[in-house]
Amino acid sequence: MNVDGRPTRTIWVAGDAVEIIDQTVLPHAFATRRLETVEDAARAIAGMQVRGAPLIGATAAYGLWLAMRADASDQALASASERLRATRPTAVNLRWALETMTAALAPLTPRERAAAALARASMIADEDVAMNRAIGGHALALFKELAGRRPRGTPLNVLTHCNAGWLATVDWGTALAGIYAAHDAGLPLHVWVDETRPRNQGAALTAWELGQHGVPHTVIVDNAGGHLMQAGRVDVVIVGTDRTTATGDVVNKIGTYLKALAAHDCGVPFYVAAPSPSIDWTLASGREIPIEERSAVEVTTISGRAVSGELASVQVTPTGSAAANPGFDLTPARLVTGIITERGVAKATREGLAALHPELAERAGRAGTRA
Ligand code: MRU
Repeated sequence: MNVDGRPTRTIWVAGDAVEIIDQTVLPHAFATRRLETVEDAARAIAGMQVRGAPLIGATAAYGLWLAMRADASDQALASASERLRATRPTAVNLRWALETMTAALAPLTPRERAAAALARASMIADEDVAMNRAIGGHALALFKELAGRRPRGTPLNVLTHCNAGWLATVDWGTALAGIYAAHDAGLPLHVWVDETRPRNQGAALTAWELGQHGVPHTVIVDNAGGHLMQAGRVDVVIVGTDRTTATGDVVNKIGTYLKALAAHDCGVPFYVAAPSPSIDWTLASGREIPIEERSAVEVTTISGRAVSGELASVQVTPTGSAAANPGFDLTPARLVTGIITERGVAKATREGLAALHPELAERAGRAGTRA
């Protein structure tokens, strides 16, 4: 997508290194960082300079390339993979990317591995872009249908949570891909952007992205969504996912579940955009998905730009109050209207997902799905 009118991806190869957009300083500054080692890649993921399930996967893939350039032994491949896997627990794209890379590299001789790693990581990045573009096309068709039920000329009101835009992927985004496709197709739409405490991925990242692309949007506090849905001011909710089970249970950024409950109560369709690498075909229940517990400091403080123009962090809770910070929550399949993958829109059921991706469902079935 465009930054100040220039087409930009979130991650790219620059000579012997990888470059990323540092998402911890957006929207107040646009800065890129250079990753030269697997340790740099692991720190960028753990420190959330890159975040969002598909981008975490792509960064890990490039991280293995950086590792193979330094040491392409079997042992280095295993330990680099282990280091990257330990960075964040919830997004399944991380495991998927590491397994995909390892399957491609392990049969090769050490001498062949660095070049093959770069080729495979670049393929993962390009495939991510293609999958997201396809998701955008399917979401556009849904949005057109929903817009047809509205009074002529009035914008379709879409609510989204967290950042599932191009910054969360290599390009286009998952949930926001359809929004960009609709905007580009001239469909009038307006986006309600949940701020998404504690790290404010909505207020900081989604709002910035939509602004860069000229999409009309309004940032709301996380607690406003239910009220807006009751008042008939939301036509559709669309979110991304960090891990969706083979049965359609969806784990996504904390607060997603409450939006799904409100949408269900108000009769608002609730869609999840999920490229197939975000689906964990080995799981039958979302309760098995590890939920990242993040630092309490993200809750007790808030970061932004001070009046002086400096980036600053301020404390919002009394000193001594305990704080808990689960990063994700589980939306049960029964609350999900549909899951949009690169192949179309599926019912949030085992049968629905398997009908779109029979080969992935069968492969997991052969390996033994956990109940
Ligand atoms: O903690 P984050 O910022 O990595 O969480 C991101 C999300 O929860 C997104 O909604 C999810 O990765 C889907 S995005 C394509």
